[in-house]
Amino acid sequence: MSVYDKTESLKGDKKIPLPILFKRLWYYIKPEIWWFVFAFLFIIVNVVIEAIMPQFISMIVDKLEFVEDLIETGDSAAVNNLYYIIIVAIGYLVLSVVSFIFYYIQGIILQRSGQRIIYKLRMEVFEHIESMSQNQLNDMPVGSLVTRVTNYTTSMSDLFTNVLVNLLKNILMVVVVFIMMMILSWYLALVQVGFLAAVFLISYIFRVIVYRIFKKERQYVSEMNAFVNENLSGMKITQIFNQQKRKENEFLVKNENLRKTRYQVVLAFGLYRPLLTILYYGAIVTTFVLGMQSEMTAAVAVAFYLYVSRFFNPVQSIADQLNAIQKANSASERLFNLLDIDPQVLDRPDAIEVDHFEGKIEFRNVWFAYEKDNWILKDVSFVIQPKQTVAFVGATGAGKTTILGLIVRNFEIQKGQILIDDIDIRDIKIKSLRKKIGQMLQDVFLFSGTMRNNITLHDESYTDEQVMQACRYVNADSFINKSEKGLDEIVIERGENFSQGQRQLISFARTVLSEPQILVLDEATANIDTETEVLIQESLEKMKNIGTMLIVAHRLSTIQKADQIIVLQHGEVIENGNHQSLLKQKGFYYKLYKLQFADN
Ligand SMILES: Nc1ncnc2c1ncn2[C@@H]1O[C@H](COP(=O)(O)OP(=O)(O)O)[C@@H](O)[C@H]1O
Ligand SMILES: [Mg+2]
Repeated sequence: MSVYDKTESLKGDKKIPLPILFKRLWYYIKPEIWWFVFAFLFIIVNVVIEAIMPQFISMIVDKLEFVEDLIETGDSAAVNNLYYIIIVAIGYLVLSVVSFIFYYIQGIILQRSGQRIIYKLRMEVFEHIESMSQNQLNDMPVGSLVTRVTNYTTSMSDLFTNVLVNLLKNILMVVVVFIMMMILSWYLALVQVGFLAAVFLISYIFRVIVYRIFKKERQYVSEMNAFVNENLSGMKITQIFNQQKRKENEFLVKNENLRKTRYQVVLAFGLYRPLLTILYYGAIVTTFVLGMQSEMTAAVAVAFYLYVSRFFNPVQSIADQLNAIQKANSASERLFNLLDIDPQVLDRPDAIEVDHFEGKIEFRNVWFAYEKDNWILKDVSFVIQPKQTVAFVGATGAGKTTILGLIVRNFEIQKGQILIDDIDIRDIKIKSLRKKIGQMLQDVFLFSGTMRNNITLHDESYTDEQVMQACRYVNADSFINKSEKGLDEIVIERGENFSQGQRQLISFARTVLSEPQILVLDEATANIDTETEVLIQESLEKMKNIGTMLIVAHRLSTIQKADQIIVLQHGEVIENGNHQSLLKQKGFYYKLYKLQFADN
């Protein structure tokens, strides 16, 4: 499997039969259908105009020889001919302008409708991604989701704004022009059909070749994107470990691949375009030669010549448009595939709203696996009383973070029950559950924007005073006051302009502001300076007054002060009690304590 496949396809992608695909697309097209009909009427008018324009030229050519007489004799018939020519020329000009205006209006109508369709589709896809559980999202490479939200919707918008309509237009054009040529000379028109067949054949062969090259190119581009993306994020590490040369060499290979395929594209097109041009000139020369033999008038020959050019362009475009349809077809297939993935974590139909939690939390024989049968939590049971502070302790990978995620239903458990205030959390509306539980996660995520937006999460109903109050509560006020713009301080991508500890404090403020009744905290230990550490400890103490608090604890002080300590090993609860009682047991916790904290 190539990298392209890995980043482009998702588990569960499947073919959708064409009729069903059309039916689903129809749902989006239907509201716009009258606009499409309208645009199509404009196109018919345009095709007719383009089909009769060569006739105008022909009429002018017809009279030109008489104008020569005018210069010699100056008789009145010749003057009339001159007027005739001028009038026809003006008519030609007027038609050109009308045609231009029609093209313009039609273009705008199609763009508006097409963009509306895509807007709706993009919104749907994004909202659908939002509705999926963490576990489902883990299965989907970010690259592939990004491609679906942006590129694939663009391919489809091409279909509506450009491809379908132009395909119809071109087919219509070919038919109408062919009829006009038949009227002028059925014999020459049939000869053109021979050229037409040749153009189609060459275009077809070319498409097959180019399709392969393009596929390879897309793969290389995708590889390069992934590489650049990862390495920009990891540039710090590259520089610290002096890995630039090795990275350059890796990049060189990708760059070289891309250069070679691009070159192949150029070679292929370099052959294709001249071939078509040769055919085009061949068709014209044949027209004139055969025309002369059959003693065609100059006017008819010129008209025929103009028709040949109006014949060639649409035929070439049709090949391109068939290609674009194929692209849009697979794009829409993949979009629908994504939309067809049912969200795993859903509200039960009879789920209830909860306004207030006392804060009792119970795990009853909970079994959980991220992947089938690879049990991460095995028969986990414990009860936490309201307002208690509980510390989860255990080695890395023991399942501490997992337990916290399960309480807010980031994932669905396979066996057992999780209850809050003796209600199974599956019977509570997810929104109301998450609203009452404040989560402070291991890696704090800050969005680019301002500090205020990161704390209020764009909820405008909070006043600055409320925000600052929350900040004071968690001790975030001192560094916010110190920063130049206060709450308006700019946060750059991922909050890189703040220290880890400061980010943690911002996330505390964010949580406290939303007035939760249960707090969940995955304690981060790394990279926090002593000064901020003290602030964090103090704010932790205060937050304990808010309600029940679950902490994945690394600091001894947090653990010691907890009402209950739950010790985990390989996804099982092995000990449960407070600091003193656990020490007395002289079990795992005792050993851990000796090992990790004895020196402190
Ligand atoms: N999203 C995930 N998909 C698959 N396995 C995971 C995922 N998250 C964690 N795990 C696995 O679950 C186990 C417990 O992880 P975690 O709860 O994060 O441990 P802890 O927080 O105690 O260090 C680990 O073995 C880890 O590899
Ligand atoms: Mg963890």
